[in-house]
Amino acid sequence: MNKEISTIGVLTSGGDAPGMNAAIRAVVRTALAQGKKVMGIRKGYNGLISGEIFEMESKSVSDTIQKGGTILYTARCKEFLTPEGQQRGADMCKVFGIDGLVVIGGDGSFRGAEKLSNLGINTIGVPGTIDLDIGCTDYTIGFDTAVNTAMENIDRIRDTSTSHERCSIVEVMGRDAGYIALWCGIVNGAEEIIIPERPDMDENEIIRRVIENRKKGKKHNLIIIAEGVGGSIELAEKIERVTGIESRATILGHLQRGGSPTALDRMHASMMGAYAVDLLCEGKSNRVVAFKNGKYVDFDIDEGLTMEKHFSDFRYDISKLLETR
Ligand code: ADP
Ligand code: F6P
Repeated sequence: MNKEISTIGVLTSGGDAPGMNAAIRAVVRTALAQGKKVMGIRKGYNGLISGEIFEMESKSVSDTIQKGGTILYTARCKEFLTPEGQQRGADMCKVFGIDGLVVIGGDGSFRGAEKLSNLGINTIGVPGTIDLDIGCTDYTIGFDTAVNTAMENIDRIRDTSTSHERCSIVEVMGRDAGYIALWCGIVNGAEEIIIPERPDMDENEIIRRVIENRKKGKKHNLIIIAEGVGGSIELAEKIERVTGIESRATILGHLQRGGSPTALDRMHASMMGAYAVDLLCEGKSNRVVAFKNGKYVDFDIDEGLTMEKHFSDFRYDISKLLETR
């Protein structure tokens, strides 16, 4: 039988992502509108275990929708990887009367959410990660802002790269995924895109194309490489050594995770946060919210995480055509 929820907890976990605050805001305000009590949990599962838990009101989330980061802070929690840590987390929920929980984070955080569901706490995951690497959803909160931030910064690198007639290698985030790299490669007009989904990087072929582009009169070369492939500094050194063309590597790093969320991130975050509360109010547990084929839907957490992520061959193939001149 579905159990009636009285108090909804909310936490952010894993790497932060722009738009997490909009998701927290949506959880808080839609839960209050349904007559629920809302508890904010600071620092992810760490704060759950240590009891950094406080009651949230509507005004707790005022003036937050435009802010980057997460007002609840986030963390990675080793203790929560153990059955004892998970039990302590479930016990803490009981101490604070939390019978429904929204976990905003990535796939690791959802594995934790699954454990809490198994321990009797109705738990729902909301996908928040700049990496866009969750199988069941076409969108994860933070991706659009991260890509726009990377794009703007790569445009700047391109300016100086052209002035100096250099080859620039830019490494963008994506622990195991090349979505940010693919998008930046296309929207920044890069000459090469190197991503883990297409592990066919041939350094000699890349160097051959750098030389060929110079012969055609190109003033710079822009190579985007995903963090999951890595090796940007070594690649820059090798290109310079072999071609004699000055080369520089830039690792964009954590700047991609900050900043005010775009409209798209605020919108998806608001809808997904509200959807998660609806699921809890319907008595559901162990679900992950997703945006699939233009609709908000939900999946069993394990099913959602084991679904294969569709990688767009169409975009990749077009990127290859656009690289050539
Ligand atoms: P993300 O959620 O962004 O993928 P992580 O993979 O670092 O980030 O996971 C965030 C936190 O979720 C971890 O620090 C840990 O506390 C919890 N977690 C990750 N995997 C599991 C698991 N298999 N079981 C329980 N908790 C997990
Ligand atoms: O998962 C998001 C992400 O930003 C990855 O792209 C990156 O590999 C990782 O988090 C970095 O995590 P940390 O905050 O521990 O440096």
